[in-house]
Amino acid sequence: MSTDKNIRFTVAPGGALRGTIRVPGDKSISHRSIMLGSLAEGDTRISGFLEGEDSLATLAAFRAMGVRIEGPYDGEVTVHGVGLHGLQAPREPLYLGNSGTSMRLLAGLLAGQAFDVELTGDTSLSGRPMRRVIEPLTRMGAVVEATPAGTAPLKIRGGQSLQGIDYALPVASAQVKSCLLLAGLYASGRTCVTEPAPTRDHTERMLAGMGYAVERQAAKACVQSGGHLQATSIDVPADISSAAFLLVGASIAAGSDLTLEHVGMNPTRTGILDILRLMGASIEVLAEREVGGEPVADLRVRSAPLQGIAIPEALVPLAIDEFPVLFVAATCATGETVLTGAEELRVKESDRIQVMADGLQALGIDARPTPDGMVIQGGVIGSGQVNSHGDHRIAMSFAMAALRASGEIRIDDCANVNTSFPGFVNLARGTGLDVRSDG
Ligand code: S3P
Repeated sequence: MSTDKNIRFTVAPGGALRGTIRVPGDKSISHRSIMLGSLAEGDTRISGFLEGEDSLATLAAFRAMGVRIEGPYDGEVTVHGVGLHGLQAPREPLYLGNSGTSMRLLAGLLAGQAFDVELTGDTSLSGRPMRRVIEPLTRMGAVVEATPAGTAPLKIRGGQSLQGIDYALPVASAQVKSCLLLAGLYASGRTCVTEPAPTRDHTERMLAGMGYAVERQAAKACVQSGGHLQATSIDVPADISSAAFLLVGASIAAGSDLTLEHVGMNPTRTGILDILRLMGASIEVLAEREVGGEPVADLRVRSAPLQGIAIPEALVPLAIDEFPVLFVAATCATGETVLTGAEELRVKESDRIQVMADGLQALGIDARPTPDGMVIQGGVIGSGQVNSHGDHRIAMSFAMAALRASGEIRIDDCANVNTSFPGFVNLARGTGLDVRSDG
């Protein structure tokens, strides 16, 4: 992946965001479309696939396990499924770049295969906690070796017979839930996962869409082994987590009026809309429809004065990837914004609490990190230099901050924007953000 190149963004202050655009495809759904399409019987046709490094890492992993995959050609992918038992041993370790979703979901899916496999990643991914999947997988009978710190590389020993478990997730994590449901496809009996708070349910929806029964009762989701997946067509909506940058940008930049088309509106992902509306944002939801088992809409956002709030903790897992840019919204709000209950942010692609606090402070904002969140006083964003620490969402968040800054903002280490939002610079420029990429 491209973390070794210092791509720097330079963003001129001011401007407004206007027009109608479609941001790239949903990352979570793109990963799952390749994984489940590969395990299905028949050909799965995907449109709107995210051609970002993370989902391409998943695609390459399945190719390395013998799955014939055509594309992506302009978001179109055809996966020639091999069935639940048709994957082959890869010749080399599977390199998953920056992608936590690839590693955690694959760990579950591969724990039940007949072959050994090793999963590796870049420096950020190699520092992220994997015990959260290793521990329950081990209870199911899987054999997974990690470093003494519980991190990648992960060595998964094949040929184990897995047993279903009934597992209560200690943290609200869709990655861990999905990992266990995928392992459950290969385990004897029933595998059930109970979550402490709702997390994204794309795995459950896509399994059901491919004819695999998922039993859902309140906070519990269960699968039973012995079924099979039927290939289907998957229309990947635009990623609400990528739309989030523009929703905040247009909210904070006076004179903005921006429409984002075909955005995924799965209720386990729309916390960003609820939080921004609580702050006073003007977001209209237009043409709500359902596409392939996922709700979709167009979003029209116009600038509005924002107020600081205490972010309800129940919304945290529903907006878990959007806090870097929500912190920028908070700097542009009057008064204080308080986030609590979000310690998970410390183990994302970077420590998003510390890295955002450092960057906001460098721009003159009173941002105080806490163990599980942040306290931000609205203020005037100055000019200066910040470091994204190779975290795509930090880089794009600071790019949006320039819309309200008093001078230029330079952002270092932006190459990983390509993991989730290829074409960000051109798309954002087209709406009115004066951003340049060098390096
Ligand atoms: C994801 C789940 C979330 C999210 C990540 C994608 C997924 O992680 O942060 O970007 O596709 O399942 P957790 O479930 O670990 O919170």
